[in-house]
Amino acid sequence: MDIVLSGIRPTGQLHLGNYFGALRNFVRMQYDAKCYFFIADYHAMTTHTDPAHLHDHVKTILSEYLAAGINPDIATIYVQSDVPQVAELSLLLSMHAYVGELERTASFKDKVRKNPNNVNAGLLTYPVLMAADILLHRATHVPVGKDQEQHLELTRVFARRFNNMYGVDFFPESQPYNFGADLVKIPGLDGTGKMGKSENNGIFLADSDEVIRKKVMRAVTDTGPTEPNSPLSDGVANIFTIMEAVSSPDTIAYFREKYATCEIRYGDLKKQLAEDIIKVVAPIRERIEAIRNDESYLRRVVRDGAEKARESTDRTVSEVRRIMGIRPF
Ligand code: TRP
Repeated sequence: MDIVLSGIRPTGQLHLGNYFGALRNFVRMQYDAKCYFFIADYHAMTTHTDPAHLHDHVKTILSEYLAAGINPDIATIYVQSDVPQVAELSLLLSMHAYVGELERTASFKDKVRKNPNNVNAGLLTYPVLMAADILLHRATHVPVGKDQEQHLELTRVFARRFNNMYGVDFFPESQPYNFGADLVKIPGLDGTGKMGKSENNGIFLADSDEVIRKKVMRAVTDTGPTEPNSPLSDGVANIFTIMEAVSSPDTIAYFREKYATCEIRYGDLKKQLAEDIIKVVAPIRERIEAIRNDESYLRRVVRDGAEKARESTDRTVSEVRRIMGIRPF
């Protein structure tokens, strides 16, 4: 059976783009493959070192994953730092990770450029820690976006190098997993690119109905079509793209027709879109609130998750120790 693993850095709330891009697919996939979902708090520390907020951010992601339908009795969901074996595997893998190849990683160069005053060693070894996350469970498939493909490629380099170096066939070559047609890219409300958490163009899963309505009503449009079948401006195209994800085919056809005949009123379009987004988000938000407040449930979920994760990680780390020559007396 496939072993699927996905990690997410706890740096804020999840938005509609996270939901339609990945989370909803994770929920479906947990029944077909052995799935590990973890919250990469060690990774977050390479850029977000605020001790006052880290725990809260972890709790947010955890509650949101559970609210969206990740089932802790089916999948394994855990917090990275609850499984410190990953730190040992990362250390061992780092012995065969070359500084040159780490320095050439696009994400590292990007961080150096943007933040020249905080080029810490954790940033440099970020891909090694990520490889350790993946190889700890000997994951065969890792769903990643474009920005993480290079990290996954390095994971395969490290796995292959380890296998060759020690003459073993131990680590798999983890493949990127693409959701194909199920991957829905949600654009932002500001008429530019995709929905993000820093761009301030997103709708969060925890947003109230009122906030959703306000954000949608403020979405960027244009002055309206003046000729039949004129092309869509970026802002209006984005609104239709979000509609494709949340609205019924009839609704979408109705507004497309109104646009084509220049009869569209963007106010009506946005009102409809807001209500259709609310239909998706409101039930999730209500579950987020309930789960967030259930401390004992959350405690049990992370404890059980870490315990389940450790079943495979203990095996991997002791095998790697043995292969590398660390032997008990
Ligand atoms: N680097 C990933 C990101 O920023 C998060 C991550 C950490 C991850 N470890 C992972 C993703 C292992 C997949 C597998 O999005």
